[in-house]
Amino acid sequence: MITVEDISVHYGDLQVLWDLSLEIRENDSVVAIVGPNGAGKTTLLKSMSGVLRPTSGSIELFGRDATTLSPSKIVEEGFVHVSEKRNLFNDLTVYENLKMGAYTERDQFRATFEEVIDMFPVLDERRDQKAGTLSGGEQQMLAIGRGLMAHPDILALDEPSGALAPQLAERVFAKIEEISENTTVILIEQHVDRALDLSDRAYLFENGRIATEGSGADLLESDHVKESYLSG
Ligand SMILES: Nc1ncnc2c1ncn2[C@@H]1O[C@H](COP(=O)(O)OP(=O)(O)OP(=O)(O)O)[C@@H](O)[C@H]1O
Ligand SMILES: [Mg+2]
Repeated sequence: MITVEDISVHYGDLQVLWDLSLEIRENDSVVAIVGPNGAGKTTLLKSMSGVLRPTSGSIELFGRDATTLSPSKIVEEGFVHVSEKRNLFNDLTVYENLKMGAYTERDQFRATFEEVIDMFPVLDERRDQKAGTLSGGEQQMLAIGRGLMAHPDILALDEPSGALAPQLAERVFAKIEEISENTTVILIEQHVDRALDLSDRAYLFENGRIATEGSGADLLESDHVKESYLSG
């Protein structure tokens, strides 16, 4: 569904991705992307969503050249990126935020809304509350819920467990597992063990390159991954 081939990405003169290639396949349920801070994980997602343009290489999305598509067209094509910053509209209510997520599918709004609150009942309980006043965990659920409102074929989640207490993070991982039954999830995570455990395939990024790739289980067994990224 996505083929990234030999992309290089720069911020001004600073190169952060180096001839990087990877693939998201139709039958992937969760593809994990892990690696240290600054490795280029978020930069990859921004490149896939059309926010950043590679300086060389190509990105094919559902058989089309994504490097010529606008970010909103990329969402329409079925790729949705939930940013690590969440980007909620703090002064709008939960309901209004969810509505903003559905801009590509007005007709189906009701049905999709029902699905999303079925998955995240707290969003219905808080439906008229301003997003900026939600707890961190609730904001994360809202960000994911808003992403789902666009009916993506691929949902990319950038550190969905970021800054959440362990119990809440666990709840988010359980939701991700549920979402992945119908939607391909790209999961960027600092909880490397959980991410690899959930994923069928995984990529380890280091310094803007792929250091290791394989099944989640392979990476969990890799000495390099164990030594550098897994505790205990
Ligand atoms: N807008 C920007 N301008 C200049 N440099 C940037 C910009 N955004 C990111 N970078 C740099 O690019 C490199 C990769 O950043 P990126 O955010 O992709 O890393 P990451 O793997 O997502 O890290 P983290 O785990 O901390 O989120 C870093 O060195 C970062 O400082
Ligand atoms: Mg990041």
